[in-house]
Amino acid sequence: MTEEQFKELTETADRMILPFFPKETGMQKRLFESMNYSFDAGGKRIRPIMLMESYLMLGGNEDEIEHLAPFMAAIEMVHTASLIHDDLPAVDNDDFRRGKPTNHKAYGETTAIFAGDALLNYAFETMLEDTVKEGDQVWKMKKLEAMNVLAKKSGAYGMLGGQMVDYLCEQKNDATLEELLFIHEKKTAALIQAPLIMGAIFAGANREKIARMEQVGYLVGISYQIQDDILDCIGDEKLLGKKTGSDAKNAKTTYVTIKGLKDAQADQERMSKEAEGILSSIAEGPTMLRELVESLIHRES
Ligand code: IPE
Ligand code: IPE
Ligand code: MG
Ligand code: MG
Ligand code: MG
Repeated sequence: MTEEQFKELTETADRMILPFFPKETGMQKRLFESMNYSFDAGGKRIRPIMLMESYLMLGGNEDEIEHLAPFMAAIEMVHTASLIHDDLPAVDNDDFRRGKPTNHKAYGETTAIFAGDALLNYAFETMLEDTVKEGDQVWKMKKLEAMNVLAKKSGAYGMLGGQMVDYLCEQKNDATLEELLFIHEKKTAALIQAPLIMGAIFAGANREKIARMEQVGYLVGISYQIQDDILDCIGDEKLLGKKTGSDAKNAKTTYVTIKGLKDAQADQERMSKEAEGILSSIAEGPTMLRELVESLIHRES
């Protein structure tokens, strides 16, 4: 996928999720401003894009794609909430994110904690508001199922479980490869699996295809985090929009410190290729999703 194509997808996703940003009014206006500060800061939007592309790849009707919009917004809200809290002094203690000072640098630690909580909750408000109003019984059931997936993949069995073990390993200044794979699966792959599975549910895919999309999400998620660890060592801060060297600063054991740069790169390429193979077995011919996965291997931002 060319940079232009990727940019176009990001813009499409942005257009779809924009209406779901909270309005900045009321006595708690500062909370909304802080939520939108990070939400609107220009992430790549790969998770909402994946939801949309999974739906289309599995035969979802393009005319009904607007049904997906609140769910695309919700996955980006959960992800953004995870980033706000990940950057806090008590976690990774980072000062830059998405090309701007981190939320706690701009709004202070207290507001950043509230903004992360509020965004996580707002994701479920957004999905529930839409699902409660849904008049079509088939879509209503699909939406309930999709919400169930996102809830599980975000919580203690998913992203937050991974963040916890990430922190515990940092405290003991060590991590085995087994622990590291658990961390990558939970903190990163879970929120890649969620949109892929949700897109499949919306497209009406059967259980077997949904399971294969979950496996794709696992492989893409692990390799996405390996590349994140690589970029933290050798990336370009301007392109990344965040400071490099965060892992070294926190003396973190990463895929790169365990395996070395070369093997880490080889492993992430191998896993991405395996994911592409599964995608090809589900849908013949080139698909946007496969091209996206392919282009993520060499991503620089
Ligand atoms: C960063 O996620 C955190 C990881 C899970 C590696 P992204 O690389 O998707 O960040 P944004 O959303 O584009 O800012
Ligand atoms: C982030 O892992 C995972 C989550 C935020 C859930 P990192 O701590 O490596 O992400 P970056 O490098 O700060 O984006
Ligand atoms: Mg972290
Ligand atoms: Mg971090
Ligand atoms: Mg990182």
